[in-house]
Amino acid sequence: MDIADLVLEDHHRQRKSFALLDETDPANHARLAAIWGDLADFLEAHAAAEEAVLYPRVLELSDPDASETKDAIGDHNDIRDAITRATSEDVGSDGWWKAVGAARAANTEHMGEEEDEVLPHLRRRAAIAVRTDMGLAFEVAKTSARRAQLDTSDKAPDDYVVEHT
Ligand SMILES: [Fe+2]
Ligand SMILES: [Fe+2]
Repeated sequence: MDIADLVLEDHHRQRKSFALLDETDPANHARLAAIWGDLADFLEAHAAAEEAVLYPRVLELSDPDASETKDAIGDHNDIRDAITRATSEDVGSDGWWKAVGAARAANTEHMGEEEDEVLPHLRRRAAIAVRTDMGLAFEVAKTSARRAQLDTSDKAPDDYVVEHT
């Protein structure tokens, strides 16, 4: 399957999970915690799998000045930092909602940039067979067997580009 399609599917799942938080009774902290726990883990796995599988090939194939990649790594850091802030707050507290809202806003902006710039450029520059190979690797990287191998730490954008070019 084309990695560009698989990334879109992941983004839709993220939007749905934030919508589930909207629908949850704010007093039901156990339910909020359950939804947020899965969403936070998925956001981190998705970003780390993109960093492991997608962006090295974006640098090679469709982002010659590395601007899209550097911007994406910085966005991933912003999303991870908001997740970390949410994790330090009591679920359902004002501080928790603020951090979850920051993660949502950062993620929404970032998904738009991937969907409007990164993925269109990759579709034009990488053959479908290449995108299909990348798609399989992307899905395998997120399996429960491989999830622990993903690097979910923040990364300096300039260092990331140097390491992957
Ligand atoms: Fe991303
Ligand atoms: Fe993404």
